[in-house]
Amino acid sequence: MSILRSVVLGCGAYLPKRILSNDDLARTVDTSDEWIVQRTGIRQRHVAAPGEFTSHLGIAAAGAAIADAGVDPQSIDLIVVATSTPDNTFPATAVSVQDGLGITGGAAFDLQAVCSGFVFGLATADGLLRTREFKRALVIGAETFSRILDWTDRTTCVLFGDGAGAVVLEGQDQPGTTEDRGVLTSRLRSDGRYKMKLYVDGGPSSTGTVGHLRMEGREVFRHAVAMISDVVTEAFRETGYCVDDIDWFVPHQANQRIIDGSARKLGIDPKKIVSTVDRHANTSAASIPLALAAARADGRIKHGDLVLLEAMGGGFTWGALLLRW
Ligand code: ACO
Repeated sequence: MSILRSVVLGCGAYLPKRILSNDDLARTVDTSDEWIVQRTGIRQRHVAAPGEFTSHLGIAAAGAAIADAGVDPQSIDLIVVATSTPDNTFPATAVSVQDGLGITGGAAFDLQAVCSGFVFGLATADGLLRTREFKRALVIGAETFSRILDWTDRTTCVLFGDGAGAVVLEGQDQPGTTEDRGVLTSRLRSDGRYKMKLYVDGGPSSTGTVGHLRMEGREVFRHAVAMISDVVTEAFRETGYCVDDIDWFVPHQANQRIIDGSARKLGIDPKKIVSTVDRHANTSAASIPLALAAARADGRIKHGDLVLLEAMGGGFTWGALLLRW
């Protein structure tokens, strides 16, 4: 019996030109390259130029994904942009991306699940494609976290960076076996009791300002590994796959210690971990598609590979998704 699956046709990424190293940061706040690398694995981050918006990053990443997929942009009838740093309160950054790509049909909207945004976005697009109302989707993670950082707060400003990544998905009938390509399952979770552990202290309805990112880093760290492991285990149970079946583990890139701790708890071979946190820092919703694009570009992820994605972030939100490339 055939089944409709959301198959990845292509992926792409974009990083702003300006690179800010740990040593650069140590000139403005009381920190050091040694502290940042030891606690997080981060060595540098990219920062958007003045006048370079989240939509611009998203358009560039989407253009690369469309070129990689080899499809006509007009054939894309669904655009989901996962972001916590939209150009404006409204309209959605997704319509600016749609306009920038010259696409005039279909639907485009933003989705906000902070660092879990790309996993939530992929799962949402997958659900909509499986209704058969839409045929081809662009799922983009795009962020300019540099605009919401308090650059005097060393406990947060060293952790984040700007960037965007995107995938093109197409609804395709698959045989309905374990060898199917496309999204095989997803698990999404939120728990608002933790909403003040990682938040932005401003917003249109509360302060009328944009605000700055605030975080209880230790608390986030304390919950991250257990939450991630839970949804990954559920995704395995749902599909019948086990940890040895996966070819690549592409986690949200927040902190190398969280990535390694999750992999260790799940029993994932370190050789299967795709990590870009050293070069990109935490780019929130953009981090997974940036890592996917890097692992595609260097030939690691190949057609037919089983890929495990997971993320955890503000809310808290967390999720896992299994797909065959
Ligand atoms: N440079 C130098 N010293 C620093 C810095 C810095 N950038 N930041 C904090 N410190 C100091 C603190 O002031 C503290 O000093 P004190 O002992 O004199 O008070 C000391 O370092 C230890 O601080 P902790 O916060 O306890 O350090 P910890 O080992 O927990 O590391 C970190 C902090 C890296 C933020 C860690 O808690 C962490 O990784 N948490 C997860 C947070 C995360 O990744 N968030 C991303 C968003 S959520 C997500 O995407 C999953």
